[in-house]
Amino acid sequence: ESYDMGGHDTYMHKEICEQPDAVDRVLRGRIDDRFSTVHLGGLNLDAREARGIRRVKILGCGTSYHAGLIGAGLVESLARIPADAEPASEFRYRNPVVDPDTLYIAVSQSGETYDVLAAVQELKRKGGRVLGVVNVVGSAIAREADGGTYVHAGPEVCVVSTKCFTNTVVAFALIALHLGRIRDLSVAEGKRIIEGLRKLPAQISEILETEDEIKKLAAQYADAKSMMFIGRVRGYPVALEASLKLKEISYIHAEAYPASELKHGPLALIEPALPTVAIVPDDELLEKNRAAMEEIKARSGRILAVAHREQEKADHTIVVPKNEDELDPILMGIPLQLLAYHTALALGRDIDKPRNLAKSVTVE
Ligand code: AGP
Repeated sequence: ESYDMGGHDTYMHKEICEQPDAVDRVLRGRIDDRFSTVHLGGLNLDAREARGIRRVKILGCGTSYHAGLIGAGLVESLARIPADAEPASEFRYRNPVVDPDTLYIAVSQSGETYDVLAAVQELKRKGGRVLGVVNVVGSAIAREADGGTYVHAGPEVCVVSTKCFTNTVVAFALIALHLGRIRDLSVAEGKRIIEGLRKLPAQISEILETEDEIKKLAAQYADAKSMMFIGRVRGYPVALEASLKLKEISYIHAEAYPASELKHGPLALIEPALPTVAIVPDDELLEKNRAAMEEIKARSGRILAVAHREQEKADHTIVVPKNEDELDPILMGIPLQLLAYHTALALGRDIDKPRNLAKSVTVE
C-alpha cells in the first residue's frame, strides 16, 4: 500500500474507503473451516493455557480503547470469559492488582503510544501476561508484548483512526472466536461467526456506496453546536467512537451515553438544537432503543438513527446491512466515520491534521 492519496482529497477519505480490503487482509489465511475456528499462532497460547484464563483485561487509548470495549464484549459473548476494557492512561496509576490468571491485551494502532507502553511495562514487571493487538509491525508495544496479533490495516496516515479501528475490532472477533472454540463455543456457533466475518468486506462496500446520502445528512447536521450519541451494550462503544471522531475533526462538541442513562441526567440537554445520533441495531435491545428515541422525540430532539431498517421515531435513518448481532458494531461504525468526515468538510476543517492532535502520542 502506498502513501499517495490515490485520487482521494484526504488520507482520511482514502483510509475509510480502503476498509473492505483492509478487513479482507486481517481475515486472510486465518480461518479454518474444518474446525470452525481461526489460527492466531502469534498469541503464543496453547489450549491448556487458553482454558486457564479467568479474565481478560484490555488496555488502550482513544480510538483503540473504544475498539477494546467492543473487543471485551466479543470475548465475553463468544469465549464466555469475563472481560473489560480500560484506558491504558489510567491503569497504572491506580496500582492495579495484577492477576496471573488474567490475560492482558494492549491495543495500539501505532504501537508507540507511551501510556499503553508504560502500562505493558508495569504489567510485565508485576508478572502479568500481555498480548498486543497492534497495527505497526515491529513497533515498541509489539516488541514488548509476550505475543499478539497484527491487525493488518496497512499504513494509516490521517491523525484520526478509521480503518485501524475497524480492523482492530475484527481482530478481536478472531481472538474471541479462537478462545471460544478452545473453550465452550460450539462448531455451529463458530461457523455462524465465520460466515458473518466473511460477509463484512462486501457489506462495508455496500455502506460506502451510500456516501452521497450521508454527505447530504452531514450538511443538515453541521450547524449543530453539540451532538449526543447514544447506544446500548454493543452499540455504546460505537457511540463513543463516533462522538470522538466528530469532535476530533469537526470540533463540534459531542457526548456519548448509554441510551439507558439518558433518564439519569442527559435528557435535560435534549432540545431541538441538540441532535442525537442513535445506534439502533436489530438485536434484543431494539425495543429499548426505540423507547429511548421516543423520549427524545417527546422533548422535540432531532434524531439521526443508524439501523438495519428505517426507524419511525427518527428524523433520518442511515440503513446498514445486517450481520450477526456480535459483528454489527463493526458495520455501524462505518457510516459515522463518513458523517464526521463530511461534517468536518462542510465546516472547512483540516481533516488530516486536526488542531492540537498528533498521530502518535509518545509522551505522557
Ligand atoms: C484516533 O482517532 C485518535 N487520534 C487517538 O484517540 C488514538 O486512537 C490514540 O491516541 C491511541 O493511539 P494508538 O492506537 O496509536 O495507540
